[in-house]
Amino acid sequence: MRKLKSGIYGLNPLLDGGVNENSTTVVIGRSGAGKTTFATQFIRRGLQDGQEGIFVSLDENKEQIIREAVEMGWSDILDSLDDELLVFIDASGREFSNFIRKELPAFVSEWKGSNARIAIDPLTPVMWSTKDLYEQRDLIGFMLKQTRKVGTVLCTLEEHGQADLAGAETVIPMYLADCVIHLRLDHDESAPSRTLKIIKCRNSRHSQSRHAYQITRGFGIILEGIERRKVATAKVPSQLRQMLLTRALPKSVLERLEKALEGLTDEDFRTLKPEALLDLILQEYQDA
Ligand SMILES: Nc1ncnc2c1ncn2[C@@H]1O[C@H](COP(=O)(O)OP(=O)(O)OP(=O)(O)O)[C@@H](O)[C@H]1O
Ligand SMILES: [Mg+2]
Repeated sequence: MRKLKSGIYGLNPLLDGGVNENSTTVVIGRSGAGKTTFATQFIRRGLQDGQEGIFVSLDENKEQIIREAVEMGWSDILDSLDDELLVFIDASGREFSNFIRKELPAFVSEWKGSNARIAIDPLTPVMWSTKDLYEQRDLIGFMLKQTRKVGTVLCTLEEHGQADLAGAETVIPMYLADCVIHLRLDHDESAPSRTLKIIKCRNSRHSQSRHAYQITRGFGIILEGIERRKVATAKVPSQLRQMLLTRALPKSVLERLEKALEGLTDEDFRTLKPEALLDLILQEYQDA
């Protein structure tokens, strides 16, 4: 999988290098969590790398989004608009089912190339355009399938329920997307505290932890405490490989396990010790 730099400061090491090309990511958070900021940052990073950007806005109009970006210190997106490298699709106040089933496929079939970044902000009104769950799933699935034809997709989704990610409106997009990122905003007495967690990411290793972030003018979302990736150590895989060689395992099993260990690092095993994994392997393949 080719990785694209996300543009979110500190996120790439948590995603094993970045966002998978031609994948679909959904960013979920409450109002003010930073969803639109995330989407703009992602698009803007692509523009810097010569990729085209498509911003599909379903809530705020084009002028509002641009004004916010300029306020954030990102007035360079005005140049990208002039150069037609950044395209806005303002679907706010539209009839979404018609927009998704008719206008979007027409746009996609006219688009040349498959290397753009597409942001859809937010997906929520599409979910609300019908009460029928099957129709919701079908609409979102269709929308993701269409948009990924032109490149790498990032959708935002509003969170409304009290508990994290428990709201009914988050379930379907979470299943359909390749990667799910949760932005949590807690209002403490003094300052808001913000944390990010990667809930899932198909075809990629990813961080399992929650990470604090801030939103800073000029930069956007910055994750805190992220160091440049160190050279990964592979003590657990190499110790396990040594241990396996001393056991009477069928040759084919041994070969498969050695292949599985290739390229793995200590991080892949988290707190699991080689002895414990060896024991599980022996239970699986040796015990009668
Ligand atoms: N120009 C700015 N300078 C500094 N901080 C900003 C600026 N613009 C936005 N922020 C911060 O970023 C936060 C998140 O804004 P953003 O619009 O990305 O949230 P959102 O998740 O899209 O919210 P909503 O669901 O209401 O659209 C704001 O609440 C504010 O704290
Ligand atoms: Mg927003």
